[in-house]
Amino acid sequence: MLTMPSLSLSLSLSLLLTITMGLTLRLTEAKIPGVYSGGAWESAHATFYGGSDASGTMGGACGYGNLYSQGYGVNTAALSTALFNNGFSCGACFEIKCANDPSWCHPGSPSILVTATNFCPPNYALPNDNGGWCNPPRPHFDLAMPMFLHIAQYRAGIVPVSYRRVPCRKQGGMRFTINGFRYFNLVLITNVAGAGDIVRTSIKGSRTAWINMSRNWGQNWQSNSVLVGQSLSFRVTASDRRTSTSWNIVPATWQFGQTFTGKNFRI
Ligand SMILES: *[C@@H]1O[C@H](CO)[C@@H](O)[C@H](O)[C@H]1NC(C)=O
Repeated sequence: MLTMPSLSLSLSLSLLLTITMGLTLRLTEAKIPGVYSGGAWESAHATFYGGSDASGTMGGACGYGNLYSQGYGVNTAALSTALFNNGFSCGACFEIKCANDPSWCHPGSPSILVTATNFCPPNYALPNDNGGWCNPPRPHFDLAMPMFLHIAQYRAGIVPVSYRRVPCRKQGGMRFTINGFRYFNLVLITNVAGAGDIVRTSIKGSRTAWINMSRNWGQNWQSNSVLVGQSLSFRVTASDRRTSTSWNIVPATWQFGQTFTGKNFRI
């Protein structure tokens, strides 16, 4: 039998071990690709919007414009206030499956993978549990219709779901679309692999130092520097703290409205 001192010693040892393991895990996680792999499942609900071809889901609060040509296809969702994080969640990817509703969920609970491309606004005229699905503090996914139909029956309208963050798998490089005019650069960043959501962006002209950009809306980042006639580089930090620098991907002859492809995060 353990005496009191050895019991408390073993307790503090296991506590120390737990702390050390937690720390090691976090430190390792910060470096390896795919930080969002295998997270815990959380509960939310899902509805759908747009047509069966996801028409009506184009554009949206993240600024991605035509989701087909930007590579998001129909694998998209609008997030409620609780999940949207004022647009910082734009580009984040989620695995979602229908949960605990045998009469409406498809058998076997198949998963879908979606990218957050839009905001599902609150509707305070309706109660949280009857139509005001996207009202705070509810976590809610308004899915493009084809995605909803992968996990549940159309007639369900709304189903309980389990969801978790997953790394975004994207084809090709990160894309930078430069909008604006001489004194106002608005850069839309799309097709971001890995974490998918960007927390910091800077831009560098061939004759400037790195300039921090500020987030304007969705994943549109702005700077007021005059960069016309300079080749440009971008440095992007994602929510998993990884940074990717795309050197000189924009030639000095660039024009507003053009899109350039840079490096992407490894998954
Ligand atoms: C740019 O942002 C980084 C990170 O927030 C900060 O450390 C740095 O001082 C900023 N640079 C300028 C020039 O404001």
